[in-house]
Amino acid sequence: MTLQSLSEWLRCPNCFRPLEPTDSLTLGCVHGHRFDVNKRGFVSLLGPRSTVVGDTAAMLDQRTAVLSTGAYLPIAEAVGRAVRTPSRVIDAGCGTGYYLRAALQDNAGARALAMDLSPAAVTRAIRNDDRIDGLVADTWSPLPIAGGVADAVINVFAPRNLDEFSRVLVSKGSLVVVVPDASHLGSLRAARGMLDVPDDKADELISRAAPLFRLESREALRYELPLTPDLAAAISAMGPSAHHEPSRAPAIMPTSTVVAVDIVRLTRR
Ligand SMILES: C[S@@+](CC[C@H](N)C(=O)[O-])C[C@H]1O[C@@H](n2cnc3c(N)ncnc32)[C@H](O)[C@@H]1O
Ligand SMILES: [Zn+2]
Repeated sequence: MTLQSLSEWLRCPNCFRPLEPTDSLTLGCVHGHRFDVNKRGFVSLLGPRSTVVGDTAAMLDQRTAVLSTGAYLPIAEAVGRAVRTPSRVIDAGCGTGYYLRAALQDNAGARALAMDLSPAAVTRAIRNDDRIDGLVADTWSPLPIAGGVADAVINVFAPRNLDEFSRVLVSKGSLVVVVPDASHLGSLRAARGMLDVPDDKADELISRAAPLFRLESREALRYELPLTPDLAAAISAMGPSAHHEPSRAPAIMPTSTVVAVDIVRLTRR
């Protein structure tokens, strides 16, 4: 990343005018708003009153441990297929950047913006890949991202802001969303008392998105995932339940569970 490539994605969070490099580690707008770029190469454009928190380093470590086993590789492959070959892609709620890397695979000329509320997540997502710029921002706020800068937005198990995703996409740009089905990780949730029962339905997404996005394709991905005790513990610790009380120790540990997600590809109208 360079300050120039980072700034090309962005707009000022205060006045929405373009941001440009003003010195070696600062971005600024014509109205004099200034933002320091972190030495690790990303900028935080959270509003001053933001109280929401993203994933912690400990949760991200667990997520990395799970993803490195290949447990969710079929999801990454499906995201890669759905995104096809974008030249500019934004990952909203990027986590460790696992799915963004899958979307960029074999696409040396692509550029990407990894966005998350968690600075620890953005740090990991941009590490060792010069194609990826980093942004700490809140999906629920007006995004500090300029209009029409992306060919594709990906959004995997993370909060969505459909109006803003539409605004940052070019006309006919793609929004690729991974939503868990109600049966996702069912036996593991039951055994460990995990809180985050998915209420995120692909059908609801598609109908809520309809004024802004046309449905292009929908893939129902279902497979049995063998579980070791370590993998089961890491899956519980990487998700939203990790923000709350510890999951209870399971009486009987399931030896496998179902991965059940929908990969929805929408096209901006
Ligand atoms: C369940 S994780 C998914 C991460 C990644 N997409 C993956 O699947 O590995 C949800 C991510 O959304 C981020 N997040 C939560 N609330 C957010 C918000 N309001 N704005 C931006 N990111 C947010 C978290 O920090 C976390 O990295
Ligand atoms: Zn400004």
